[in-house]
Amino acid sequence: MKEANNLNQKTGPTIWAVGGGKGGVGKSVISTLLGFWLSQMGKRTVLIDVDFGGANLHTMLGIKSPPKTVNDFITKKYDRLEDICIETGIENLRLLSGASEILSLANLQFAQKIKIMQNISQLDTDIAILDLGSGTSYNVLDFFLMAHRKIVVLTPQPISIQNAYAFVRNAVYRKLSRLSSQKPALLATIKTAMDPKNEMNVRTVKDLLNAVKENNSEEDMDLLSREITEIRPALVTNMIKSPRDKEAGRIIQLVSEKYLMIHPTILGSIMRDNQVDNMISGMAPLTTIDRSSEAIAGVYNIVADLI
Ligand SMILES: Nc1ncnc2c1ncn2[C@@H]1O[C@H](COP(=O)(O)OP(=O)(O)O)[C@@H](O)[C@H]1O
Ligand SMILES: [Mg+2]
Repeated sequence: MKEANNLNQKTGPTIWAVGGGKGGVGKSVISTLLGFWLSQMGKRTVLIDVDFGGANLHTMLGIKSPPKTVNDFITKKYDRLEDICIETGIENLRLLSGASEILSLANLQFAQKIKIMQNISQLDTDIAILDLGSGTSYNVLDFFLMAHRKIVVLTPQPISIQNAYAFVRNAVYRKLSRLSSQKPALLATIKTAMDPKNEMNVRTVKDLLNAVKENNSEEDMDLLSREITEIRPALVTNMIKSPRDKEAGRIIQLVSEKYLMIHPTILGSIMRDNQVDNMISGMAPLTTIDRSSEAIAGVYNIVADLI
């Protein structure tokens, strides 16, 4: 997305987004544990709850009712997101809490999202982690696409693999539509192609690029193919029970390469760990989880690889 290129990449934080289809796959748990390890490794980190419908990141950090939330920014009570960040009690780790009660947030205008992203890129921190909401609404997809590192969480269940693939696919098509928003003829081709039963016989991104070459221009086709290769989702399989479960990410990788012409990477996997469940049910801060826990070891490996 063009807009993403406007983000201040040199001096601002690196923005990580954690997304991926349906609720309950562990996006918030993983965001929290990623933030925890990053802070332990000396990276100043802000966790941002972008799940405007069901903000719950604060409870995972043991904070009952956050004194300030993103809502205070949207309603212009504060001009900068920096002023709404709250301490978590962990050195180097702050939280920007979501605003669950505000329905208007569920339908942000594109310009508002850009404004939020620009403000995130001005935060005084090394890394900002966006814990995205569930589903594939434009809100979720736009924040995902604007992030520098795009993490997709899935579980080994077939339905979750399907959901994660649908999420990636929708992100690709959302990016294509945004790219052509100023080009009506190109947008028309893309809109037609997105209908699963379209008469142009376009079934894959490869077909779409050919259709663009035919109906629009070769330059348009080049532009689109360049921009989609920039989407490199990083896959994390959560709640695995056996080493075989690690293969889930491979399936998405293969299908994405074949049909979407993008090349996701595999970041790693995280074991299913009852301690996580117990801590969340008991409202205990996840950051106090036993260091020998299997889940936290998985997240450690991911962070160590990335940093
Ligand atoms: N690695 C894990 N091991 C055990 N339980 C987990 C793990 N990851 C997530 N969970 C469970 O799944 C639930 C949903 O996780 P959550 O992060 O809230 O999902 P999402 O943000 O994707 O909706 C958590 O409340 C927790 O009980
Ligand atoms: Mg969540």
